[in-house]
Amino acid sequence: MQDHTGSTLAASIEDSLAERFGERLQVDPNLSGLDELARIAGHRVHRDFLDRPVEPTLLRLLCACALSAPSKSDLQQADILVVNDPPLRQAVIALMPDMPWLAQAPVLLVFLADGSRTPQLARLRGKPFPNHHFDLLFNAAVDSAIVMTTFMRAAAAVGLGSCPLSAIRDEAAQVSALLRLPERVIPVAGLACGWPAKAGHITPRLGLETTLHQDRYRQGDLDRQIDAYDRRRAAALPYRRQRAVERFGAAPFYGWSEDKARQYAEPLRADFGAFVRAKGFCLD
Ligand SMILES: Cc1cc2nc3c(=O)[nH]c(=O)nc-3n(C[C@H](O)[C@H](O)[C@H](O)COP(=O)(O)O)c2cc1C
Repeated sequence: MQDHTGSTLAASIEDSLAERFGERLQVDPNLSGLDELARIAGHRVHRDFLDRPVEPTLLRLLCACALSAPSKSDLQQADILVVNDPPLRQAVIALMPDMPWLAQAPVLLVFLADGSRTPQLARLRGKPFPNHHFDLLFNAAVDSAIVMTTFMRAAAAVGLGSCPLSAIRDEAAQVSALLRLPERVIPVAGLACGWPAKAGHITPRLGLETTLHQDRYRQGDLDRQIDAYDRRRAAALPYRRQRAVERFGAAPFYGWSEDKARQYAEPLRADFGAFVRAKGFCLD
């Protein structure tokens, strides 16, 4: 006999993924772990939070779960920094003025790429360290992103909502000074977290024909795929306002590709490489 919960969860996953990709996938209701898949498939960021604190013990638990994520070569180069002190929090948030909603987020975290410890191991154990090159940074940044994703999943499992913040890198040098980040430790992303005030919504993604490859990379008819995605997305989740109208005018149809093209018609965070170099990482 089929489990009723299984079929409900399977239907919910199918619905979420149809909304996401414009394609209905078949989900076997007898699979285990459907509740986790349903949360993953139904992912949405949250920027609107209840006025309800997140208990420190719960936050510590979620951080420990996040830091249980896999780590490249077991080098453990990702850290989490909890910004709790009110004046410090205010100073950090003030560096992201486009995101006033951050003031209402009960939890503010910064996920760090920590390239400082591995060279310290070499010093401690009297070994050479011929690895001051780009891979040191890349590995630590990838680990940090995996830890953040794992935190988001753990948070979602207990009913919390979150939103990553690349904006933490807009004023990276100031953030670094405020948080006293040592040499070879840089912020990868911030994360706002709390109990969601709204259900949020699913954001449609590019179709799987564009982003899921089989054996070899296949570009296909990318222009047509982007056009189709723009239309599907606009039908479900139209943009409420157009970007940079004074520069580009008002478009009769304003889709995702128009928005992203306008967004990246400006140099964004072009000084980040200089910051990373100044923190002691090598980008070659
Ligand atoms: C690495 C990363 C950085 C992000 N930075 C910001 C940010 O600075 N501000 C913000 O409001 N949202 C930020 N977001 C959230 C994205 O805007 C959001 O994930 C995207 O619009 C898709 O929505 P969804 O996650 O609900 O599917 C970030 C997401 C990621 C993964």
